[in-house]
Amino acid sequence: MLTLSTNLATLQLKNPVMLAAGVLGISGPVLKRVANAGAGAVVTKSIGPEPREGYNNPTVVPLNEFSCLNAVGLSNPGYLEFSKEIILAKQENVPIIVSIFGADIDEFCTIAKKMEKSGADALELNLSCPHGGKYGASIGQDPQLSGEIVYAVKNTVQIPVFIKLTPNVTDLIPIAKSAENNGADAITAINTVRAMCIDIETGQPLLSNAFGGLSGPAIKPIAIKHIYDLYKEVGIPLIGVGGIVSWEDAIEFFLAGATAIQVGTGLLRTSFLDMFNELTEGILSYLRRKGYTRLEEIIGLTHRLKSYRGSLHE
Ligand SMILES: Cc1cc2nc3c(=O)[nH]c(=O)nc-3n(C[C@H](O)[C@H](O)[C@H](O)COP(=O)(O)O)c2cc1C
Repeated sequence: MLTLSTNLATLQLKNPVMLAAGVLGISGPVLKRVANAGAGAVVTKSIGPEPREGYNNPTVVPLNEFSCLNAVGLSNPGYLEFSKEIILAKQENVPIIVSIFGADIDEFCTIAKKMEKSGADALELNLSCPHGGKYGASIGQDPQLSGEIVYAVKNTVQIPVFIKLTPNVTDLIPIAKSAENNGADAITAINTVRAMCIDIETGQPLLSNAFGGLSGPAIKPIAIKHIYDLYKEVGIPLIGVGGIVSWEDAIEFFLAGATAIQVGTGLLRTSFLDMFNELTEGILSYLRRKGYTRLEEIIGLTHRLKSYRGSLHE
């Protein structure tokens, strides 16, 4: 029977459609609702060493075609407080992946240990927030430091460790390779693309932080290209994220090389309760229509097509 069940390292997902970090995953009850709505796994909001209020409003600005610009500022209740949300979310039988961030190796390891103890099924290291100051992208732009953090966290916990990459670098491959060489179990790509909008009447930036990260359909081709490139260069599973609003988008990520996908901004435009089932149903009927028996058959398929015309233009 055709099934969408997927493995990410030791993690078993009933389907490959996951909630992306930061969009709904701030509380146990909401994570539970997303899990109930059919997600294969849920990723929490990024959790750091201490409570952070984040930036002043406006922090999220909707743009045309459902894309959005955000600079939330890594607001979160801090890892000690967040533990109880994990315990609540664990009541559903869906893997909980806790996204974490820190300023240095010690902070990452302390948070990782506590999250594992609280029931996290895996960790996603957020080395990639484009507006997180000392947290996030400044770490994720450095292959050596990224690798050291992965190595240290892997030696601290038993659960799978994923690393989330920023597209705001000239070349993402050295960072991905360093993560893989240091034991990362999967790579999530991409976080938001650094961006800015200005109100032409006031002359002021639209976000209180002036700049932030672009997400939604506008960034999908960027994310697809990164997944496509990563698939050629690393051997660990890839989790594709960026602009997915339909099953067709999801298929595109699988063809480029993703083993699983995440949905973020897409959930802001429609009822998230419908979105997960719509995506899994759409993926299933595509596979059926094309005569495939397993999702793996289409993962990275574009790379294997002989008539592929783009290979001449690497
Ligand atoms: C409002 C908002 C908050 C986000 N917060 C986080 C976060 O806490 N940690 C993280 O790793 N990514 C965060 N992201 C990035 C998303 O997880 C995702 O990588 C990005 O938005 C691209 O996917 P999408 O186009 O489906 O939204 C956030 C995105 C948005 C729109």
